[in-house]
Amino acid sequence: MRTASRLLATALLSGAVAAAAQDDPAALAEAARCGMCHHPEQAMLGPSWQAIAERYAGDENAAALLAQRVREGSQGVWGEAMMMPTTEEQLGDAELARVIDWILSR
Ligand code: HEC
Repeated sequence: MRTASRLLATALLSGAVAAAAQDDPAALAEAARCGMCHHPEQAMLGPSWQAIAERYAGDENAAALLAQRVREGSQGVWGEAMMMPTTEEQLGDAELARVIDWILSR
């Protein structure tokens, strides 16, 4: 019991440190290399963050849908170009959600 709670405390603590270091969604997107195919305002291989925000403005389900598309990969929504899946090692669920919120709030 004592060991378990100590382990839990350690896990919470290191999680908190990691979260503080990775709070900035722009830095998260950079680290996950989203910028290889996405530009804030201009279409590259992928649509711009701005175009994505405009397309899904007012769509309450957009955050969940887009997180799933990034996780699983996507093709045919915007064109023929393909987005490869992004693994949890590349970007965790909480971080991905933060990046998606940041894209949609542009
Ligand atoms: C290899 C290039 C590439 C990389 C890297 C990439 N994307 Fe994409 N992304 C695309 C393409 C191409 C599309 C359009 C896919 C389609 O038409 O279905 C897209 C579409 C999207 C969309 C819109 C999906 C939709 O259903 O409208 C979001 C959101 C997105 N990307 C976020 C990200 C994030 C976040 C990352 C980094 C974790 C990322 N992308 C990395 C190429 C990329």
